[in-house]
Amino acid sequence: MGKVWSKRFDNILNPFIEKFNASICFDRKLILEDLDCSIAHAKMLGKTKVLSTTETIEIMNGLETIKVDYLEGKFSPNLPSEDIHYFIEEKLISLIGETGKKLHTGRSRNDQVGTDLRLWLRKEIDNLEILIIDLQKSFFYLAKSHIHTLIPGYTHMQRAQPLSLAHHFLAYLEMFQRDRERFKEVRSRVNTCPLGAAALAGTKIKIDRNFTASELGFEKIYKNSIDAVSDRDFCIEFVSASAIAMSHLSKISEEIILWVTDEFSFAKLTDKCATGSSLMPQKKNPDVPELIRGKTGRVYGHLQALLTMVKGVPLAYNKDFQEDKEPIFDTAETISSCIKAMTILINEGLEFNIKNLSDAVENDFSNATDLADYLVRKKVPFRTAYQVVGEIVKYCLERKILFKNLKVEEFKKFHPKFDEDVFLDLEPRNVVKSRTSEGGTGFIQVEKEVNNWQKKLLL
Ligand code: ARG
Repeated sequence: MGKVWSKRFDNILNPFIEKFNASICFDRKLILEDLDCSIAHAKMLGKTKVLSTTETIEIMNGLETIKVDYLEGKFSPNLPSEDIHYFIEEKLISLIGETGKKLHTGRSRNDQVGTDLRLWLRKEIDNLEILIIDLQKSFFYLAKSHIHTLIPGYTHMQRAQPLSLAHHFLAYLEMFQRDRERFKEVRSRVNTCPLGAAALAGTKIKIDRNFTASELGFEKIYKNSIDAVSDRDFCIEFVSASAIAMSHLSKISEEIILWVTDEFSFAKLTDKCATGSSLMPQKKNPDVPELIRGKTGRVYGHLQALLTMVKGVPLAYNKDFQEDKEPIFDTAETISSCIKAMTILINEGLEFNIKNLSDAVENDFSNATDLADYLVRKKVPFRTAYQVVGEIVKYCLERKILFKNLKVEEFKKFHPKFDEDVFLDLEPRNVVKSRTSEGGTGFIQVEKEVNNWQKKLLL
């Protein structure tokens, strides 16, 4: 079959340009959405009497047959069709003949491709929601089992203050919750139907845009036909929400990579999620978090590609927009596989070394703030207390000892308000326990939050 526009042209397309122009090798992913979009369009044309009942049935049946054949693997879309939209139209015509040529009445590929992509993305976002909930559950269970496990908390990657390990994981639950909210918001804008905008100006054919929109489950329709075919904000928003979510996955990945090093030894990788080295027999590599951390860059790259794609592009459809699909497809594929891999890693890939974790918080100065707060409790102004403790830290470092190794008399030399009870305040478990401010790491607070999450996740 020649190109649909061949009557207007004298010559055929250069074969290289034909391939260069084509998008079928990637937009065939949209086949089911394209079929649904066409079925809804044909049904609408039947309703508005643009097509007779027989024509409508013929076209709809033809499209259903193509769908079944596709699902049964009877064909796979390919060149020489330029894209999935032409492919389906051509297939319909070869299947049902002349009537098939009426399908494209009152629409353009411009509004069609926008509709297909939104349908595809809406489904992906719904899948992502399920995957993120699973990920949240895996973090929840880990948190629940580690409320009383201590871990050093860091700022600037320097020991800061000890934390409940559960508190650390609950922080991720919050981040993933924001990711869910962001995707939900993106979904509401994805769920707006451009179909019926035709090429850019609307159409004189009698169409019913609200009918097709509701057939396809869209919440609303675009109000302006030019905007409808020009808008790619939803693509950028989706990749942007994904990029932020990937940054969260990358953050926990980095932490896991550190935790399983010999230097940290906070956790061990189980055999289920680690690989060996081809050369060094002693090694167990954290490939999963490394890959997730690495793949984050891809998604950031897609965001940049899309932002650049729309920059300075004048209104209405421009072929630049064909470049929206691969970043969207790859982003969806990347983020969902990373979420799945992280869920498995959290569920069955990690074992925490509780002893090393508690040894770590026993043997550092991460209780220094508490030493200052001890004096504050005894009415010493915070800044004075802070300076006193600074001197004590220096004194200990010079002697290679910790606060707990000092005698109460030594403490008193730094400030008379120190007393025997200071040692209780210095114990890491008490340090954590005492952080009872709302949202803090105190065990009671953490337990409360674990219970809240249990309800929120319907567990
Ligand atoms: N394959 C095209 C795309 O993906 C479909 C829309 C083409 N429209 C056009 N006027 N050339 O963007």
